Amino acid sequence: MLTSEVEPLAHAIEAIAAHGYVIIDDFLLPNEVTTLAEMIKNKWLDGQMVSAKTGKNGLKNQDIRSDYIAWLDEEDTTPAVQSYFRQMEMLRLMLNTQLFMNVQELETHVALYPVGGRYQKHLDQFSHGSSLGITTGNIQHRQLSAVLYLNQNWKAHHGGALKLYLDEENTIDILPNAGRIVLFLSAKFWHEVLPASRERLSLTGWFRTRHHLPL
Ligand code: OGA
Ligand code: MN
Repeated sequence: MLTSEVEPLAHAIEAIAAHGYVIIDDFLLPNEVTTLAEMIKNKWLDGQMVSAKTGKNGLKNQDIRSDYIAWLDEEDTTPAVQSYFRQMEMLRLMLNTQLFMNVQELETHVALYPVGGRYQKHLDQFSHGSSLGITTGNIQHRQLSAVLYLNQNWKAHHGGALKLYLDEENTIDILPNAGRIVLFLSAKFWHEVLPASRERLSLTGWFRTRHHLPL
């Protein structure tokens, strides 16, 4: 494990402990970011990306979101994908040893938002008795959300920021710049993806506690 790889993660752990979220630039090497972006475009051309409106839980999200996704396989041998999983595994171990988060699994998908795409304000983890009626399923076990962006030369005027609601009054808009990853506590932060004038690519992961069958 190289010191240069551990340092940003050590900073991430401190920031998550202090604020519940962190933004890290250059999470992967530039060529890895480019490879991942190409991989998503190829999946799109191959028809492997499906509308997230009908998620794997079968719920219809209607107008809530307009992205297309493909679930990512940890067995995928693409070096850039392996590099991503390796970094995430280091992060997972640090979350457990230093923040006692007890996360065991990583659920990941790549996402493509077509021009004008958005994802309305939501939480990645629903509370019990949520009005959406989800009482079982993976979503309740999501502890930490991790969104890695793959967009070269993204400018503020392109839109497409991730708006993170810090509390009642404060929000921050985070641009989906290539190589940037945003980590935040899934149960704590409402967030939304603002519409963009460009296609927008990302790789999203959620660290989960292990799935237990309902009693
Ligand atoms: C999500 C999500 C944020 C982003 O996929 O749940 O909120 O910036 N993504 O892509
Ligand atoms: Mn989300």
